[in-house]
Amino acid sequence: MAILLDGKKLAQKLKSEILEKSVVMKSAGNTPALAVILCGDDPASAVYVRNKRKDCEECGFDSLEYKLPADYGEEKLLALVESLNQDPKVHGILVQLPLPRGYDETRIIHAISPAKDVDAFHPFNVGKIMIGEPGFLPCTPAGVMLLLEEYGIDPAGKECLVIGRSNIVGKPMAMLLLRKNGTVTIAHSKTMDLASKCREADILIAAVGKAKLIKADMIKPGAVVIDVGMNRDENGKLCGDVDFAECEKVASYITPVPGGVGPMTRAVLMKNTLQAAEESQRNL
Ligand code: GUN
Repeated sequence: MAILLDGKKLAQKLKSEILEKSVVMKSAGNTPALAVILCGDDPASAVYVRNKRKDCEECGFDSLEYKLPADYGEEKLLALVESLNQDPKVHGILVQLPLPRGYDETRIIHAISPAKDVDAFHPFNVGKIMIGEPGFLPCTPAGVMLLLEEYGIDPAGKECLVIGRSNIVGKPMAMLLLRKNGTVTIAHSKTMDLASKCREADILIAAVGKAKLIKADMIKPGAVVIDVGMNRDENGKLCGDVDFAECEKVASYITPVPGGVGPMTRAVLMKNTLQAAEESQRNL
């Protein structure tokens, strides 16, 4: 039976370390602060935003929430982002995606100051990730890397398969594994014979968004299986991209859903916000 990669536990540890640092910053008059913009009424986004507020509380951060109607308007949203860019009390800015139809997401993301872009979505920060310069790391991929490190799993020289090529997870995940000297393959919806690619992987990362796509016969015995998926199964129960019950019998390590990658993503967002606050203090 595979060993569980307990993201919930590690995230808790990281958040308590962050709290210790933020308490010190608060007493020096520089409380880390995250501004979250939620535009429209996507129910999943509302849950994510609520969780972020809870994380901020646990880390001793100020959290500013902007709940905007779907018809708020792109120009007004840009003006809000600009005012947050200028506000010295705000260190991180997160615009919850997806935005309602009619908004140009790219334009909004480009408007966020790279110094406050705690999602690491701005092309300036994406470029830094590509060339390995220090900066914000994307929350989910960095969370996965911390989880691997915690359990002593070193990607160096291993066959790493990332399934999914999104800008938020797949592409930056591949870059971070490459930085750690993994031999990285990216599979996607057009990949032929996904199963055989999976069977070659020592570290398999599923970020597709298809419930239980990855079955036990696709896993190399002893492989490390990381599940970034967050789906509902046929009974409406939360599940990942990996068929956990089957695959935990074949893998050496596996993340549960929930309690694996999700809490790590949230912890890295807090880590990035702390980093933004520290940098702003340095630049005073
Ligand atoms: N929507 C789903 N995941 C994310 C994320 O990591 N950041 C933002 N801003 N929106 C999201």
